[in-house]
Amino acid sequence: MAESLHEQTPQRNQALGDHRAAYANDAHEMDRVYLSGYGETWAKTILIGEHSAVYGYPAIALPLQSLKMRAWVTPTGGGEHMLHALGYEGELRSSGKRFAGIRRAVKVAESFVGRSSLAFDIVTEADFPAERGLGSSAAAAGAVIRAVIDAYGRSATPDELFGLTNGAEIVTHGHPSGLDSVTTCASDPILLDHGAISTVDMDIPAYLVIADSGISGSTREAVGGVRRQYEHDFESTKALLDSMGVLGRQAVVDLAQGDIEGLGERMNQAQQMLDRLAVSHPVLDLLVQSALESGAAGAKLTGGGLGGCMIALSPSMVTAEAIRTNLYGQGAKKVWIHPMHSRSQSLVRDAQGYASARKQADENTR
Ligand code: MEV
Repeated sequence: MAESLHEQTPQRNQALGDHRAAYANDAHEMDRVYLSGYGETWAKTILIGEHSAVYGYPAIALPLQSLKMRAWVTPTGGGEHMLHALGYEGELRSSGKRFAGIRRAVKVAESFVGRSSLAFDIVTEADFPAERGLGSSAAAAGAVIRAVIDAYGRSATPDELFGLTNGAEIVTHGHPSGLDSVTTCASDPILLDHGAISTVDMDIPAYLVIADSGISGSTREAVGGVRRQYEHDFESTKALLDSMGVLGRQAVVDLAQGDIEGLGERMNQAQQMLDRLAVSHPVLDLLVQSALESGAAGAKLTGGGLGGCMIALSPSMVTAEAIRTNLYGQGAKKVWIHPMHSRSQSLVRDAQGYASARKQADENTR
C-alpha cells in the first residue's frame, strides 16, 4: 500500500487547545459530549496545466504548506450553524453565493458521518487571500470537512477526504478537475493526468515567486469561458489544449532533470496559450512582463486567471528577490518566494482509485 499523498489532520482540538463542549440537541445523543473539531489544509499553485486539466490533460501543481487554511467548528447548543469567515459573521444558511462551497462542505461532512444533530460555530482563517487562484475554495472546504468529521469524533481516509472536498468544489467551480482538492492537502508536487494522480519527481534548484495582482478572479467564470470557446470553436481550442498537454508532459521531464531554462520556456508558452483562452488579465500581463525583465526564466498566471496570482521561475534567491522588488514596484499586493525543494518520490495512484473518488464526489452532490 503506497504511502498517503495527503497529510492527515492534526489531532483533535490541538489547535484550539481547549475543551469547549456541547450537548447534541437530539434526545438520543443527550448523554454524549462533543468537542470542537479542527481541520487544516494549505494553498496550492499550478505550475503548468490550469484549464487544460479540466479536459484531462496533464497538469502539475505544487502544495504551499507554509500558507495554511485552518477551520474550527464548535458545537453551540443552538439550532443554526454560524459562520465566521472572510469578514462574514452570521448564519451559515444565509451566507450567500460566496460561501456555497462551505455550506456544501458542512453537508457532505455531515452526510459522511451520518449525523447532523449538532449546530456549529464555524471559523475559518487563512494565511493567503481568497479568489486569487491559490486554491482557497478547495482549501476552505477541505479544512471545514476535516473539522466537522473531527468534531463528531470520526476520521476519514485520504481518498474519502478527497472525494468529499471535490464534492464541495463542484458547487464552487462547476467542473473541477480535482487538482485543487488533492494539492491543498498534499505534501508533494502533484501530477494529474487523465484522472490519474501521482507525485512528481522534482529536483530543480529554483525558486518560485508568487505575486497577487490584488484582482479577484472567478474560477467558475474562467472555466465557463473556456468551455464556451471549446464548444463554439472546437477545432482550434482542442488544438490549443493538446499543445498545453504537451507542455505538461515536458514540464515533468524539466522538473526531474532540473532544467530551469526548459521549464521557464514551457511556462512562457503556457502563458501565451492561456492568453489565447482569454483567461489572462492586463495586470497579470504587466506582472509577467516585469518578472521576465527582472531575470525570471519564465512567468505565467496561475490558477483560474481573470485576475488572481502569477508565478515566476527564478534560478537563484538573489534574482527572486529582485523579481519580488520589481513586482511590488508594479503594484503587486503581496509576493511570496517559494524554494522548489528536491524530491525523488514516485507514488502512483491508478486511474481506477481516482475514478472511485470522483464517483463518490458526484454522489455527494446529488
Ligand atoms: C483552478 O485552480 C484550476 C482550473 O484548472 C480548474 C480545475 O482544474 O478544476 C482552472
